Amino acid sequence: MIGVVIGIGTIFAYEYTMKATSTDEFCTSCHVMAAGPFTMLKETTHFRNESGVRPGCADCHIPASGWPKIWRKIQASREVWSHITGKIDTPEKYLAHVDVMKGREIARLKANDSQECRNCHEVEAMDFEQQSRMAKRAHSRMQDGDRTCIDCHDGIAHDKAALEKLVGKNSSSSKESS
Ligand code: HEC
Ligand code: HEC
Ligand code: HEC
Ligand code: HEC
Repeated sequence: MIGVVIGIGTIFAYEYTMKATSTDEFCTSCHVMAAGPFTMLKETTHFRNESGVRPGCADCHIPASGWPKIWRKIQASREVWSHITGKIDTPEKYLAHVDVMKGREIARLKANDSQECRNCHEVEAMDFEQQSRMAKRAHSRMQDGDRTCIDCHDGIAHDKAALEKLVGKNSSSSKESS
């Protein structure tokens, strides 16, 4: 009996932890910076569009279920440590580290064939006729299977050029004020 109670308790605690650590509030409690991923996201179609569908951080970054999800959460212990040691706690530090972070996320999506994108966008559901010529050509070839979404669509959510501009502006204004 006690075993069952502990068992059920563990399942609830697990479910609670998994949910609580997948909200935008949780992610932006650390990724809070003005020149950070949230600011960049707000400038994109994924934040505001005609259909009103808005992916949260976890929709693109955390596998929906199973071992991949647990594994991603375990990997996140690096994020906790780097947060404590202040690895990306200024816009300048963030920019200096951004290529490494981008590289990791792109590699993760390459390895899983851009699964998080495909949770919303299915190639089979695309009406190629409504797409631009370039898009139609690229997507109709995807059956060959050697390219995946992130190969052609990196930078859709957090534009590095915009980040550089913002950090440049911020650091020059902080120099002026000091
Ligand atoms: C405890 C603070 C903290 C929380 C909470 C947090 N992050 Fe991070 N995150 C960081 C830090 C610090 C880094 C840089 C890690 C490094 O490279 O050393 C990072 C890196 C990343 C990266 C770059 C890729 C990688 O693997 O390093 C992504 C993507 C990311 N976070 C997304 C998220 C998402 C999505 C959430 C919410 C589910 C989240 N983070 C919650 C602090 C945090
Ligand atoms: C929660 C659902 C969701 C997820 C996850 C998602 N998208 Fe989207 N995406 C949308 C919606 C909704 C639009 C806007 C459609 C419209 O124009 O009405 C969109 C628009 C786009 C566009 C066209 C606009 C632009 O920004 O260029 C591209 C390209 C795109 N998504 C690629 C991706 C890729 C790549 C991923 C994975 C990294 C991804 N999406 C993840 C829902 C999603
Ligand atoms: C070989 C490169 C390539 C691959 C792989 C690819 N795309 Fe695209 N995609 C494009 C191009 C090129 C465009 C057109 C961009 C433009 O017109 O500015 C496009 C446009 C889009 C659009 C906007 C369509 C429109 O007409 O508004 C969406 C959404 C999109 N891609 C999603 C995806 C998703 C999701 C995947 C993975 C399942 C994917 N793409 C894989 C090259 C690619
Ligand atoms: C529509 C999908 C999408 C959404 C929503 C999204 N991201 Fe990303 N994110 C990506 C992709 C794809 C990359 C990989 C790098 C690239 O494409 O530029 C990335 C990269 C990152 C990085 C690495 C550093 C950087 O600036 O590129 C961090 C940190 C990050 N995201 C955090 C977040 C947080 C926090 C949120 C929520 C506020 C969020 N992301 C929402 C798709 C998304």
